[in-house]
Amino acid sequence: MAQRVLILDFGGQYDQLIARRVRECGVYCEVWPCTADIGAIRAFEPIGMIFTGGPGSVYDSDAPDVDPGVFSMGVPILGICYGCQLLAHRLGGRVTPAQSDTAREYGKTETEFQTDSALFRGLPEKSVTWMSHGDHMSRIPDGFRVTARSAACPNAAIADENRRFYGVQFHPEVRHTRYGTEMLRNFLFGVCGAAGDWSMEGFHARAVRELRQKIGGGRVLLALSGGVDSSVCAALLSEAVGRQLTCVFVDHGLLRQNEGDEVEAAFAGRELRFVRVDAADRFLSRLSGVTEPEQKRKIIGEEFIRVFEAESRKLGTVDFLAQGTIYPDVIESGLGNAAVIKSHHNVGGLPEHVSFREILEPLRLLFKDEVRQLGRELGLPEALVSRQPFPGPGLAIRVIGEVTEEKLRILRHADAIFRQEMAEAGLASAASQYFAALTNMRSVGVMGDGRSYDYAVALRAVSTDDFMTADWVRLPCELLDRASTRIVNEVPGINRVFYDITSKPPATVEYE
Ligand code: XMP
Repeated sequence: MAQRVLILDFGGQYDQLIARRVRECGVYCEVWPCTADIGAIRAFEPIGMIFTGGPGSVYDSDAPDVDPGVFSMGVPILGICYGCQLLAHRLGGRVTPAQSDTAREYGKTETEFQTDSALFRGLPEKSVTWMSHGDHMSRIPDGFRVTARSAACPNAAIADENRRFYGVQFHPEVRHTRYGTEMLRNFLFGVCGAAGDWSMEGFHARAVRELRQKIGGGRVLLALSGGVDSSVCAALLSEAVGRQLTCVFVDHGLLRQNEGDEVEAAFAGRELRFVRVDAADRFLSRLSGVTEPEQKRKIIGEEFIRVFEAESRKLGTVDFLAQGTIYPDVIESGLGNAAVIKSHHNVGGLPEHVSFREILEPLRLLFKDEVRQLGRELGLPEALVSRQPFPGPGLAIRVIGEVTEEKLRILRHADAIFRQEMAEAGLASAASQYFAALTNMRSVGVMGDGRSYDYAVALRAVSTDDFMTADWVRLPCELLDRASTRIVNEVPGINRVFYDITSKPPATVEYE
């Protein structure tokens, strides 16, 4: 069992980033709500704890708090932003709200460090950090000393090296903090004594062993979408239990052009049972007249389970339903205090009645890059492993408003052209995800001698390494021109093409 770091979540926007950075250092970690039971925290036996940031103020009546027992575990703690203020507040310091908006610190900030403190060892004495806070520490608790300062924040970091408690007002997990990774490494390796023993090889062997133990002679049914997550899940399960695994590939009619056949071809040679179900009519009729995005997700999630139930009845007894849920899905779906951004269908949309003994989610603690690494370990082809993500609800969340067969036909065609042009321009790997989405807007145009009143399609290409934040890709105008010209000429029903130049945040990658 690898060493573990516990990240306690106070509702901060960068919590997943903290976890990813820790994992990138080769240290296993989990994100738990700050309200976690102290008994469970002790039983987890963390070698260190990180308190995340959060939107609250420690003096709010409903301020997120932690069981005070964590301070007497003898385990190192790193508090970040709100987590730092809570540490100070709990241990006898004082936190003061910003007097005015101008006293708030936001953005890149020149900061001075005491490099004799374990957290800043080996760093230059001055560098840039990313600040994002209103409240600040006006008095530090007994036993602590100040280890960093900025112009607006004389107590930008504090440390009690005896108890191994550290607090930083800024965000070391954000890339804008120039030496943030080094600070996290200092905490993990220098303070907590981490060995860096977390790797995908270890995970692979352990997961296969645990799956075999858990599944025994049981039968497993897996929702295979052909995306990276469910494909890696299928390969892992097929290695663990071979033909006890049945992969049901539901063609929900919301796939991209030719995708169904491609998925089938990719799994043709593997040791598993493969069933393809054509359920397009069923999904489309349930989605008819539905325009609300969360409602669409919920319907699709439910319908998926219903189809599996029907399939499982045909197959005889099925003991486990497997899903390719990954850690960001789990965190984003409302772990602890984190705001629910979207109910990802593979977590949030589960109906109450499921006629399987248990749900298996062997990837639920992995981040995307770890899932890809695992896929390589399992010998999946690179094209499949590095394939861009495609959401479970498919094109339904790329068609704004009601989903109809007509809109899907238009979108599929435009999307195929855009992807083809990207590939031909050699830009397929320049974006983490790129696709077309059908807006619900129709507008006037001229086609030949006639007036048209057709849909506008939006093209989107984003680059990201965590999908929590994303930037839009500066695609060459010539490529956009070619894609746009081809789309309006070749796809009946479209007379306008937009290129989406919004980052995430404030937008999301998908449209619904
Ligand atoms: P957003 O739109 O949340 O997308 O910025 C971030 C990443 O998640 C994918 N995504 C989904 N995947 N079910 C999924 O399996 C969903 O409901 C869903 N919504 C978004 C999206 O494609 C992007 O990679």
